[in-house]
Amino acid sequence: MNTLAIIGAQWGDEGKGKITDLLGQHADYVVRFQGGNNAGHTIIVGDKKIVLHQIPSGILHEKCISVIAHGVVFEPEAFMAELTMVKENITVTPDRLRISLNATVITTYHKILDANREGQSKVKIGTTGKGIGPAYEDKIARRAIKIKDLFDKDILETKLTHALEEKAYLFEHVYNAEYPSAKDEAARLYEYGQILKEYVCDTFSLIDRATQDGKKVLFEGAQGILLDIDYGSYPYVTSSSTGAAGIYTGAGVTSGVVNEKLGIVKAYITRVGEGPMPTEIAEEIGDRIQKIGHEFGATTGRRRRCGWLDLPILKYAVKASSITSLALTKVDVLSGLEELKVCYAYEIDGKEYDCAYPGLDLSKATPLYKSIPPFTEDFKKDGEYATELNDYIKLIEDAVDIPVGILAYGPERSQIHFRKNYFQ
Ligand code: GDP
Ligand code: IMO
Ligand code: MG
Repeated sequence: MNTLAIIGAQWGDEGKGKITDLLGQHADYVVRFQGGNNAGHTIIVGDKKIVLHQIPSGILHEKCISVIAHGVVFEPEAFMAELTMVKENITVTPDRLRISLNATVITTYHKILDANREGQSKVKIGTTGKGIGPAYEDKIARRAIKIKDLFDKDILETKLTHALEEKAYLFEHVYNAEYPSAKDEAARLYEYGQILKEYVCDTFSLIDRATQDGKKVLFEGAQGILLDIDYGSYPYVTSSSTGAAGIYTGAGVTSGVVNEKLGIVKAYITRVGEGPMPTEIAEEIGDRIQKIGHEFGATTGRRRRCGWLDLPILKYAVKASSITSLALTKVDVLSGLEELKVCYAYEIDGKEYDCAYPGLDLSKATPLYKSIPPFTEDFKKDGEYATELNDYIKLIEDAVDIPVGILAYGPERSQIHFRKNYFQ
């Protein structure tokens, strides 16, 4: 196996960062292909907690090259702060961190728009406020600033002036918001361009060469399938293609290049932001899971909503991204609970559905639960689990018909069992 995709199989925060970091030690390249600094990928190294937003989660391994491909929306100021933090932990030279010259730049205007829409609009998505949606809007509308534009002050000023033709109206007449002039924003971005220059290249060729040469390439997804702009629970989604399809457009490889798609799934489910969540737990046990699992957003610090494992969602995610195996994370959080439930289907308008097909209105779904025997497990022996935990894993495997290849039972690097070989 030379290529592997990491795909979030729920509503994000499944533990992608931890799994990418662990597999990244065997990879030549780790590539981010979509999203931006809305992502928060946590890696625990000893007593240090490192949260990555834009920089790929392979960066902590010295021989691994981290690539930010053209499908990403890139925020220069946040990137520089993140790079400084990473450099406190490991040496990063520009040859080990590559940014696509065609990635889309998140400008101050995008952040103002995001914040004001969320603050003032009647329909709230619960965005991270990082300007993600507005930046992708400009990309699709063919007026985005690309990384390569940062090296030319005139191009920057012309493009930003053009962008302001419509946005100034919104800032002044709809949102009553302050905003910088095109000249000031151009000067600010140009300065970042000068600092970033040495990291920028044509990442399409870089990845193409790597895959041709049989290098080990890991594609690190951000968010999760249910937040995908096309496959997700629209409109409560992010603005990018978070599934496997995002790799093809966002990194520039064809589907045949990606051998294995590893879906990351939490042993329960969480969601931050607005939108329906059929298995959300209203009772006290939901608060317990939230506390034991430390379920707070790694980007915004918001409390994550918690629910029982939702098999219709997982089945859908597996279909939507042709996921070939799963990493089941945070199993430890469920250990010792006196009650355990799994949703195997929904009832909607008197009909039963065992897959969360996109035509279904999740806000109308009544989850149908199977109560299963709880387990207590110390995870000391790989593969030798309490019968009830083995049954829990089997229940998941049987529902989706693919294996659980990885079991994560704690935030630390050592707290993992590999049931299948990936890259090693
Ligand atoms: P990501 O966005 O998918 O990378 O996930 P986040 O980093 O936002 O959230 C996952 C959280 O769970 C982080 O705080 C991780 O350190 C932590 N974590 C990852 N795997 C496990 C696990 O198996 N058990 C426990 N208890 N925590 C884990
Ligand atoms: P990682 O990669 C969880 C959610 C936001 C909001 C919606 C849209 O850490 O799993 P956006 O700012 O993207 O326009 O917000 O998407 N969201 C995430 N939820 N994990 C993430 O990333 C997320 N990135 C965005 O909470 O509901
Ligand atoms: Mg996260």
